[in-house]
Amino acid sequence: MRISLTTSKNNTMRKQIAAANWKMNLTYQQAEKLLDEMIATPHELKDGQLAIFAVPFPYLQLANEKLGGKKNVFVAAQNCYNKKSGAYTGEVSVEMLTSMNIEYVVLGHSERREYFNESNQLLAEKINICLDNNINPIFCCGESLSIREANTQNDFVGKQLEESLYHLSAEQIQKIVIAYEPIWAIGTGKTASSEQAQEMHAFIRSQLAKKYGNDIAENITILYGGSVKGNNAAELFSQKDVDGGLVGGASLNATEFVAIINALK
Ligand code: PGA
Repeated sequence: MRISLTTSKNNTMRKQIAAANWKMNLTYQQAEKLLDEMIATPHELKDGQLAIFAVPFPYLQLANEKLGGKKNVFVAAQNCYNKKSGAYTGEVSVEMLTSMNIEYVVLGHSERREYFNESNQLLAEKINICLDNNINPIFCCGESLSIREANTQNDFVGKQLEESLYHLSAEQIQKIVIAYEPIWAIGTGKTASSEQAQEMHAFIRSQLAKKYGNDIAENITILYGGSVKGNNAAELFSQKDVDGGLVGGASLNATEFVAIINALK
């Protein structure tokens, strides 16, 4: 299933996305129950709006079976390896993912950067292998609390974009979804204010415009992540440059996640 880009309300080609990041949560049985609840809870995805479920590797097939064929709904992986195939015990290749019709992969989540030492350079390699295999990366970036307190978040995020993405062609960059996730807001219940989110999203878009031109920058989807909930999503998503959310905790509850889907603009 290929996505067709649809012009949305704000007159750009960019998509509005609610992406669930289950992280390392749920047993198989709990995952099955949550997917069933999701399907049973009424929600509407308009043209140009997508719901993406980044589930643990062992549940990809289950999610495919439950969600496959649903309009504007995609299953994603939470990571992949930067090598094609071979003796890399425990790793998962993009070829394995494409052979299961997976079209999105979350890359560079701050938890992977922190606990698995993923560098901007390694992520550039992962981005390349995904694009070579028709997988769309959801590229995460974002600063820690100490960087925010030192007010150097723009330099920090700018460097993450530059070192992992700016080798891409104009055509390739449009296949990337960017997720801005301030680390101090992840799993803490402390959401960035909608002004803080908008400010950083506008900065990211301005950097993309400098490198690739305005038209291309306007077409790139930029998600906000960090304690997005059913009751704050609409306010965050109403910001001009916030095109949806990457959602951890609240994506583990069908009612909450559906409220987030329904808050897409
Ligand atoms: P959270 O996680 O919604 O639980 O803060 C977001 C994320 O890490 O993607």
